[in-house]
This record gives sequence, C-alpha cells and structure tokens, in this order.
Amino acid sequence: MRLAPRISLLVAASLLSIGSAHAETVVKIGAALSLTGPAAAYGAQQKVGILAAVEEVNRSGALKGVKLEAVIEDDASTKEQGIAVFQRFINKDKVAAIIGPTLSNTATAADPLAQGARVPVVAVSNTAPKGITDIGDFIWRVSLTEGQVIPGALKRLQAKLGFKKAGVLYGNDDAFTQAGYNVMKAATEAMALEVVGTQTFAKPDKDYTAQLTALLGGKPEILIVSALVENASGIVAQARQLGWQGPIFGGNGFNSPKLMGNAGPAAEGVYVGTAWNKVSSAAPNQAFLKNMAARAHEPDQFCAQAWTGVMAIAEAIRLSGKGGREEVRAGFLKLKALPTPLGTFSFLESRDGSHDPALQVVKDGKFQIVQ
Ligand code: ALA
Repeated sequence: MRLAPRISLLVAASLLSIGSAHAETVVKIGAALSLTGPAAAYGAQQKVGILAAVEEVNRSGALKGVKLEAVIEDDASTKEQGIAVFQRFINKDKVAAIIGPTLSNTATAADPLAQGARVPVVAVSNTAPKGITDIGDFIWRVSLTEGQVIPGALKRLQAKLGFKKAGVLYGNDDAFTQAGYNVMKAATEAMALEVVGTQTFAKPDKDYTAQLTALLGGKPEILIVSALVENASGIVAQARQLGWQGPIFGGNGFNSPKLMGNAGPAAEGVYVGTAWNKVSSAAPNQAFLKNMAARAHEPDQFCAQAWTGVMAIAEAIRLSGKGGREEVRAGFLKLKALPTPLGTFSFLESRDGSHDPALQVVKDGKFQIVQ
C-alpha cells in the first residue's frame, strides 16, 4: 500500500525537517518475533508482514529523508529470550521502536524494559486485555484484545446457531490463553449460556482426551477454547475423533492457517473472531493483498497486523517529522484514522488499537469471513 494518499499530500509540508536532499537517516525498528517455539506459526507470518511493509514504506518515498530498517530477532516464544532480545534492541541496535513480542506472555516480561528505557513498543499480536499497554505510556498496540473481539463474535455466532450450553477449555500456563478464558467466561455469563464444564491444559500437552471426554459428557452445544495454535490443532482433531461434530469457537490463537495444516478436515466448522477481514474490498486491504500475491505469500491476520504495526510507526514518524524514540511516541499520540488492511485504525486513550473486528469460519480448508 502507498503510505496513504494523505501522506503523499502532506509529505512536502510535514517532512521538510527530516534529513536533507542528499542524506538519508536510517531509522531502525526492532521486531521480537516468535520464530521458534509454540508461537512460531505466528512469527513466520509476522516476519513477512514487517519486511514487506518496510520495503513498501521505503519504496513509496513517503518518509522523505528517512529509510526504515527492520532488525528481526527470535524471541523463541519465551519470556527469557524476549527479555534478551529487547535488551539488545534497546542498548546495542539502538532501535527507534520495537514491534512485538509475539506472545502476551513474553510481553509482560519484556515490555517493562522498553518502558524503563523510553523506547516505544507496538504490540501487533498481544491480545491479553490487561498487563500490556497498562505497563506504561511507551507501550502501544495494534492488535485488538480478546475483550474487543470475543464477546461480539460469540453473540453473533449464537444468533446464527442458537446454542445454549457450552463446554470450555483453556490453557492455564499462558497470559494470553488465561486472559482469553476470563473474557470467554464473562461473555458466557453475559449471554446466560449454561457452562456444562470447564477444563484446562498446559502448552506442552499433546493429549486432551480426558478433558474433552469430560466436557462432552455434559452434552454441550458448542465448545469454546482459548489456546495457542499448536494446542488448538490437537484439541480440534481430538474432539472430532471423539465424535464431536458441533461448532468449536476459538480465541485469537486459532487465527492461523496452521490450524487447518495440522488438524486437516477436523478444523471444518471452527469459528474464530478476527481482527482482519481478509475479503474487505477497501483499498488498503486490496493493496496489501496485491503486495502479498506478488510475493506468492498467503497472509493471515498476524501478517496483516504486523504490516499495520510498521505503517503505524511510519505514520508516527511522518506526523512528528523525526524518527527518534520520543518522536515516534509523540507521533502515536497524534495518529488518527489511518487507512490499513485491518480497516481505519486509531489508538484509544489506553494506547490499545481500535477498528472493526470480523468473524470467520473454516470452510473447505480455508478461513471464510462470516457475512
Ligand atoms: N494473541 C496471542 C497472544 O497474545 C498470540 O499471546
């Protein structure tokens, strides 16, 4: 996508203070992504989105005098590695802003370092409602929280399918899956759904038959699951093996084609609220899809959010006229109604993101938007 028509319109006026006609300032953006570990499926997509967006911003010339450079490191889906990567970005690479880390769980440990060093962070996949942006005024996020997506999506689904009884399963060793469960619990209460059972698992688990058997014994009409995609795939496959043919509703961790890759046809009929309406005909989404098609890459929600994170940083640099740490943060405070593949994007006062969510279902091996 071009950085936005208004960037081209305003570029002359607002960017005169950046660089000179002859010199280019390199602004480094660190990206702490889960390229290995249980969240690696998300990190792979995020990497593509970030590199493509940086290339697009630089190609567009919208940040006249500034060249963005992405420094990508593996946070290994762990708090320890996330902290190590943040330290490197802050002290060695001297990045202007950090995108990531992939997991909310890692962010709770790593983000305080950036806050302490006054380095702006843009979360592009952290969806735990609490414990992220409330770390401090340098922590921002593009990704909608479970609280912004799940209650509406579940309500829409109930209106469509008419279920009254739910079985609930969640990971209890991860900040995001725990937080997703809290949101799901509140949503079932608000909707007066009968919860026939609640079961837990942990990230290293591979066998969920005991929990699923217990839940199915309660005769639910829907299974509601908060899990990262590797666990989610196993849960979905084993639920079908146990004869469950009904709907499964997942939190944001389900938003990866890895679900269908791992679970195959068992994933049919899985519903998930999503921050990205992939069939949106809006120009910024079409431009994003075109960019991805040219790379022969099939993007998912994580890719679109990562692209949007870079575009938000670019817009902040444009708005503040400079690419330093304080200026990026100052730019975020001014950013409003940015056209992105996710929709028209703004930051809320809480520094969380705001745009319309969507609902999707796995059909014929692919996510399809529920209209
Ligand atoms: N949405 C997941 C998290 O917040 C990836 O950890």
